[in-house]
Amino acid sequence: MNASHTNASSRDASFPDAPYSIEALQALARGQGFAGLRDKVVLITGAASGIGLAMAHAFSACGARLALLDVDGAALEAAAGRLRAAAPQVPILAQVAAVDEQPAVERAFEAVEQAWGRVDVLLNNAGISMNCPTLELSGEAWRKAVDVNLNGVFYCAQAAARRMVARGGGVILNMASMYGVVAAPERAAYCATKAAVAMLSKSLAIEWGPLGVRVNAIAPGYVRTALVDDLVARGRMDLDALARRTPSGRLGTPEEIAALGLFLASDHAAFINGHVALADGGWSAYSYI
Ligand SMILES: NC(=O)c1ccc[n+]([C@@H]2O[C@H](COP(=O)([O-])OP(=O)(O)OC[C@H]3O[C@@H](n4cnc5c(N)ncnc54)[C@H](O)[C@@H]3O)[C@@H](O)[C@H]2O)c1
Repeated sequence: MNASHTNASSRDASFPDAPYSIEALQALARGQGFAGLRDKVVLITGAASGIGLAMAHAFSACGARLALLDVDGAALEAAAGRLRAAAPQVPILAQVAAVDEQPAVERAFEAVEQAWGRVDVLLNNAGISMNCPTLELSGEAWRKAVDVNLNGVFYCAQAAARRMVARGGGVILNMASMYGVVAAPERAAYCATKAAVAMLSKSLAIEWGPLGVRVNAIAPGYVRTALVDDLVARGRMDLDALARRTPSGRLGTPEEIAALGLFLASDHAAFINGHVALADGGWSAYSYI
């Protein structure tokens, strides 16, 4: 049993009225870690790189079974190889699929269900950046951002929740961004889609919470990944300026976002539902000069 789930019989015997269980709090402090994630079936989209791959390593270290989705077949194969090398005993099902193609998403979930009978955790992580002066942004580019960053999240969340509800529950984590909370210039499509992901997460949480499915969003600030490196290479981002603008004085790491993902997926976060969790080094709190 997880420390956060206690019943009346395990409450403090010397203080029968105590609204807490000392045993549960002591177990929490001793550090049960994320043992509760062992054998869970965790489906991660955009798993071939960056934050998604770091999440895959983190869940793999907990003994979870990994269903990995990515549109980039070569990168996905390389990522699966790295994960197998780090943890040979962890079962991995890697599938090439684009989250913005609903039939492909459905086929991928079907394959996971056939292999393992369920999906316990969905990490809706796949996303693309879209940096361009908005006066020049084409309709095609706008639609691509909406398709991948928003529609893909919906397709996967619905496919996951239908299975989770049928099997008694699950957890969905959607990757938003601090740029769904505060705005940046020349990123209208990115900011709008990430804000929509944050609201979609709240909407799904209130609708599916009573059915046993928790839905939360993670909203990272700048994290050093291929997505960011690409923007730096195209002259659209200055890493030193970003670090100076961040109250914590640096960019975040994929490991720090993975740690938040593990926590939110675990039963330690069983009462957290419909939350947009910022992990941005204080960026969005800062509004001075
Ligand atoms: N890196 C950051 O600073 C940062 C900050 C805030 C939010 N995020 C969000 O975190 C998530 C991961 O970002 P990252 O930095 O690791 O990016 P990344 O580019 O390193 O990885 C994204 C992965 O998604 C895959 N992908 C792209 N389109 C896809 C599609 N249609 N179907 C399936 N897979 C697809 C890519 O092939 C890639 O492997 C994204 O949603 C991103 O918007 C990143």
